[in-house]
Amino acid sequence: MTASPPLRAGPGPGAHAASAAGSAAGAPATAVIAAEALTKRYPRGVTALDGLTVAFSPGITGLIGANGAGKSTLIKILLGLVRPDGGTATVLGRSAAAEPERIAVLTGYMPEHDCLPPDVTGTELVTHLGRMSGLPPTAAKERAAESLRHVGLYEERYRQIGTYSTGMKQRVKLAQALVGDPRLLLLDEPTTGLDPGGRGAMLDLIARIGAEFGISIVVSSHLLGEVERICDHLVALDSGRLLRADTMTSFTGASQVLVVEVDEGLPDLAAELARRGVPSRQDGRVLLARLTGDATYDAIRDAIADLGLPLNRLELQRRRVEELFRDDEAPEVPHDR
Ligand SMILES: Nc1ncnc2c1ncn2[C@@H]1O[C@H](COP(=O)(O)OP(=O)(O)OP(=O)(O)O)[C@@H](O)[C@H]1O
Ligand SMILES: [Mg+2]
Repeated sequence: MTASPPLRAGPGPGAHAASAAGSAAGAPATAVIAAEALTKRYPRGVTALDGLTVAFSPGITGLIGANGAGKSTLIKILLGLVRPDGGTATVLGRSAAAEPERIAVLTGYMPEHDCLPPDVTGTELVTHLGRMSGLPPTAAKERAAESLRHVGLYEERYRQIGTYSTGMKQRVKLAQALVGDPRLLLLDEPTTGLDPGGRGAMLDLIARIGAEFGISIVVSSHLLGEVERICDHLVALDSGRLLRADTMTSFTGASQVLVVEVDEGLPDLAAELARRGVPSRQDGRVLLARLTGDATYDAIRDAIADLGLPLNRLELQRRRVEELFRDDEAPEVPHDR
């Protein structure tokens, strides 16, 4: 019945389509985005990007950095909207400087700021932008309806955007990014202006889109703890430079803190551990102890056995991303108890 292809379901070519994206030196062959020595200077001596070299892998990548770190500048350079003063970038194997039209067709972009016309309906806007991305009229209409349904705005699609809540405006921005059946989404701070519940719902929606359509997604945020739960990778920027780019697991996996959970006798266990030279700190119903080697495990097991306590859990603590940016050391475990 429908003349337009459905929004892509299942792992589509997007996840692997970047195999040719190796033109930036040193970028892995599978990189979805590759930047090489990107530099952007704005007037009055602002260096927004400072020789940034980084590659984005397929999957969902959090682009993290404080206000002014250069996240939006990077995204705009990738889309060919801003010209760098130096360096090169490729998106899905295409040069950002030479092939911005091709990148625009392959990529859905959700801009940071609210740029929505108040006096058109959700359907009108998304259909129009579908037309702009090259879809014929009927297909654009059908795809707009599908995109709006996907972001949960189907019932509200004939309302003027000016009457939408902030959450609905963010979702219509996401729908227009999806309408062209992109292989890559660049979402610039999609949770801006939302309350905690709305932020969670938006991130869940983004994760679902990534999984169901099998496309890669870059989601920028200055809230480190917020995006970590939906990301496969993180790229962290600081003052236009790369702080770190890695998988989520390597960001959060390398903990030096053991979590010890026993059903009862937590103070006794803390005292016994202190006697054995293992300082710990109570955190709710668990003890946190700094891991210094196998001896730490042995001391904990022996202390628990000596006290006859039932052990529920003994494992490395997963580190929250915030901790890594505060200090690359393990979270502090005071030595005073
Ligand atoms: N058009 C512009 N003219 C002058 N300076 C600019 C312009 N756009 C960005 N900048 C400056 O470049 C730096 C990087 O800005 P950018 O918007 O890329 O950061 P960001 O990480 O997206 O920040 P935010 O989290 O606030 O959105 C900032 O110091 C910003 O003030
Ligand atoms: Mg920004």
